[in-house]
Amino acid sequence: MTTSKDVLEPYMGSSKEWKIPLGCIMDNILSGGVEAGVITQVYGPSGAGKTNFCIITTVSAVRINKKVVFIDTEGSHSFDRLMQVSGKDYDRVLKSLYFYEAHTFEEQEFIIENLDSILDESFGLIVVDSAVALYRIIRNDDSVHDLNRRLSRQMAKLIELARHYNLTVVLTNQVYSSPGNSENEPVAGDILRYWSKAIVELKRNGKKREAVLKRHRSLPENIKVKFKITKDGIEGV
Ligand SMILES: Nc1ncnc2c1ncn2[C@@H]1O[C@H](COP(=O)(O)OP(=O)(O)O)[C@@H](O)[C@H]1O
Ligand SMILES: [Mg+2]
Repeated sequence: MTTSKDVLEPYMGSSKEWKIPLGCIMDNILSGGVEAGVITQVYGPSGAGKTNFCIITTVSAVRINKKVVFIDTEGSHSFDRLMQVSGKDYDRVLKSLYFYEAHTFEEQEFIIENLDSILDESFGLIVVDSAVALYRIIRNDDSVHDLNRRLSRQMAKLIELARHYNLTVVLTNQVYSSPGNSENEPVAGDILRYWSKAIVELKRNGKKREAVLKRHRSLPENIKVKFKITKDGIEGV
């Protein structure tokens, strides 16, 4: 993707700024929704609600007439859940959804590197659920440097697409507990943190769930909301 312009144009600021409102309690910690032009990262342990967050964002994007690319790297097969959350809009969601499954890190790379071939201004969202599941499978000490470089390149590509098409990007990330640190750390934390302008941690303790804002451009860190997952999506408690 190159620009044919050879003169500098002023940045148009707020005229390009928009969000996908999720229509639920998550909007409270996202200043109204998921922001265009940047990457929003959602991390947490298995079962925390990351895929639910992605599905709700997908349905919300379609409801404001945007097409969605959804890259599933975990074989979540979330169509039943998508149907529940979409409700009467399910057909509309399916028509606007470009769903890809990646089974290897190379496939994930191939899909992200080639998104230019399908994207246009009608797209409002790219989801990568999860950004690191396949990375994590093949990560070992020998290849970690090369793998990190490839993951960074994927992030750079996603940012480029977000800016060029003025769309939103949502990634999910898992957590692991490192020796001497009881806190759960995001996988490839430094890399994904570097590229993510908004970061939300989802926590789960039995049936109690909490979303904590870890980074945002216009809100303080560590504001929290308690939520529950329901048939239709997510609700505050
Ligand atoms: N219809 C539903 N009603 C209530 N909870 C649901 C429903 N569908 C899924 N869940 C809950 O969502 C959770 C899984 O969330 P998910 O977003 O897949 O987690 P993650 O992607 O973080 O692993 C499970 O605890 C499951 O019970
Ligand atoms: Mg998931």
